[in-house]
Amino acid sequence: MITEQQIRESLDKVLVPGVMRSPVKMNLVRDIATSDGKVNITLSSTALAPEIQDRLKDSIKEATGKLDGINEVNVDFTDEKPKDLNQIKRVIAVMSGKGGVGKSLVASLTAVALRRQGYEVGILDADITGPSIPKMFGLNNRPAGSDTGLLPVPSRSGIEVMSINLLLPGEDEAVIWRGPLIARAITQFWEEVLWGQIDCLLVDLPPGTADAPLTVLQSFPISGVIIVFTPQDLTNMVVRKAVKMARQMDKSILGVVENMSYLYIPEIDKKMEIFGKSRGEEMAQAAGAPLLAQLPIDPDMSRLCDEGTIERYDGEVMNGLGESVSRIALQTD
Ligand SMILES: Nc1ncnc2c1ncn2[C@@H]1O[C@H](COP(=O)(O)OP(=O)(O)O)[C@@H](O)[C@H]1O
Ligand SMILES: [Mg+2]
Repeated sequence: MITEQQIRESLDKVLVPGVMRSPVKMNLVRDIATSDGKVNITLSSTALAPEIQDRLKDSIKEATGKLDGINEVNVDFTDEKPKDLNQIKRVIAVMSGKGGVGKSLVASLTAVALRRQGYEVGILDADITGPSIPKMFGLNNRPAGSDTGLLPVPSRSGIEVMSINLLLPGEDEAVIWRGPLIARAITQFWEEVLWGQIDCLLVDLPPGTADAPLTVLQSFPISGVIIVFTPQDLTNMVVRKAVKMARQMDKSILGVVENMSYLYIPEIDKKMEIFGKSRGEEMAQAAGAPLLAQLPIDPDMSRLCDEGTIERYDGEVMNGLGESVSRIALQTD
């Protein structure tokens, strides 16, 4: 007797065109019924264009039809809203007091590190006016979708990405939107994108402590916030403001990350604190949260960002960042 579990496993080997994840991981499988060698599979057609539905149906028939004891496979579609199918375990927002401190970089490195640990990871680029996530991952293909929803775009290592940049006609198109439109775009990234089953969705917030980051913090069920800063921040006011905002919104601070903390010179095996003395511990104390990482100024890192190959980065600090985040935010109930 074939079990539902065996059928589910065969479905998990099929890829949904466009996202390169299985219908199981996209949480599209609604029902599986078997009797006398016949199996009826009900899928949700959410965010799948008709031709994608046909292709998916064919590959499912092929994969499941191969199972011993199965001689007929039927696939039917129902329709659900993306937000009813999304199973996102943790939402972590990456925040900074001001722009240009490496917020997007920290969001990306955290995603890459968590993905390497085997987690299902997504990045929601909520920085509508300065989206930089697709560039760091070298993504420029338009998201697939239908009138029922949009699919995120998978990176090379399988991180699911959604950004306004992927939806605009030209990558360099400037977004000069006003508050309400931005808020709507961000809400749509949450409600109308089929993320499927995600262990950790990282949200790259707009910089600063103005309206835009506030909207995001208000609209999503954020489990925690990571605050990024640099030693250049002459006063720690910016960090304190970010901390205050997170607290006012009742969001817990998972930790702080100091970026551009030092420059390592291998020839003399020395760390030079060229932007001033590290304030990592001081900021961690101000935030009442752990110091998750101190990232060096690394020319390799900025080159990979520019080339769109941030996923090639490998370094102890990045792995350490990923381990801290998974320990603090993902391995707890
Ligand atoms: N530690 C670092 N080492 C080298 N380059 C960095 C580092 N942090 C940031 N950068 C570079 O600075 C630029 C801005 O970083 P980004 O993460 O986009 O900042 P933000 O999102 O805070 O505006 C990026 O293009 C990146 O290449
Ligand atoms: Mg950014």
